[in-house]
Amino acid sequence: MDFTSRAIAYCRPGFEKDLAAEFAAKCAKSGVAGQSHSTPDCGFVLHEFDAPLEEAQRVVAYDQLVFARQLIWVRETIDDLPEKDRLTPLMAAIGRLHGRFGRVWAETPDTNEAKTLSSFFKRFMPILESALHDNKRLFDRPDAPNLHLFFTSPKRVFIGTSDPSQASPWPMGIARLRMPREAPSRSTLKLAEAFFGLLSEDERKSSLRAGLKAVDLGAAPGGWTWQFAHRGLLVTAIDNGTMAESVRATGMVEHIRADGFVWKPPRPVEWMVCDMVEQPSRVAQLVAEWVASGRCRRTMFNLKLPMKKRHEALEQARNLIYRRMSVSGRDWTLRFKHLYHDREEITGYLAATK
Ligand SMILES: C[S@@+](CC[C@H](N)C(=O)[O-])C[C@H]1O[C@@H](n2cnc3c(N)ncnc32)[C@H](O)[C@@H]1O
Repeated sequence: MDFTSRAIAYCRPGFEKDLAAEFAAKCAKSGVAGQSHSTPDCGFVLHEFDAPLEEAQRVVAYDQLVFARQLIWVRETIDDLPEKDRLTPLMAAIGRLHGRFGRVWAETPDTNEAKTLSSFFKRFMPILESALHDNKRLFDRPDAPNLHLFFTSPKRVFIGTSDPSQASPWPMGIARLRMPREAPSRSTLKLAEAFFGLLSEDERKSSLRAGLKAVDLGAAPGGWTWQFAHRGLLVTAIDNGTMAESVRATGMVEHIRADGFVWKPPRPVEWMVCDMVEQPSRVAQLVAEWVASGRCRRTMFNLKLPMKKRHEALEQARNLIYRRMSVSGRDWTLRFKHLYHDREEITGYLAATK
């Protein structure tokens, strides 16, 4: 078979099969043949498409691959990078690409073995960047393509590109967020990352305004609640557990001890978020009901996926939401991502758009 274009998607080690299943489903749907290559826990999937680049780019996109932290289009591969002079062959390979780039990232899979390259990157990248500037291949334009050097070993590098509007904004697709001191749990970072990874800038501006109302189902100890409260939203936190003092101290939170699957707000709210550990199908039905019936305009939620059937559980949840929303009379949008701060779960965003 004549494969004519290649993509690499990065993922959390252990999720390669799920990512490959997504590539396979996208290819089957568009009638494009292809093949995925990965090894267990390697942290990425290389997919070959039997189609030219422009066609392959219509088959998959970063925001449609739930398990992808990043998606790059491979332009060149070097298998035998010499230890003594990596610059010359890299500059020669980059020289064969067209156009200019907004930024260059040296990246590895998210594995301990690959991360040993990071001290080399610290020394090498300023040298490479300055060579690219001298050759007028790098310029300061936020919308210019990203240039990725994806090292799978000290000798093997894939040189790829991505369009910033169709890519993670973070090197290696890893959201490096500072843990806020007043937030009570690390899961606060999950919602912070979701706001950046799943919402557009316009959506963030319009939906995270002071004075809007949010409901947090399964809120204790309050990491997610804190994300709203510190932005000035008024939060109703539903949980039989105890909310942290730092969250109550914001003065923006009403805590109600109740069952999150039963409690309903007296009036419609902007946001409902749900981090209750439950069957994904049950959570999917709950969030769809809230948006379909107009209890909330938008929701961010976690689905804890069963390890051996992640892709199937995700598709089942997606179908349940489709079914409920399609009889709601509303226009709506649904997005999923396996975020950096997610482990066995993925994060979903469902919103009524009209
Ligand atoms: C993973 S923790 C939530 C952590 C929270 N998002 C944070 O950032 O601090 C899950 C919470 O869901 C609550 N929970 C589970 N089932 C629930 C239910 N049926 N109704 C209300 N809360 C529930 C648990 O008490 C627990 O506090």
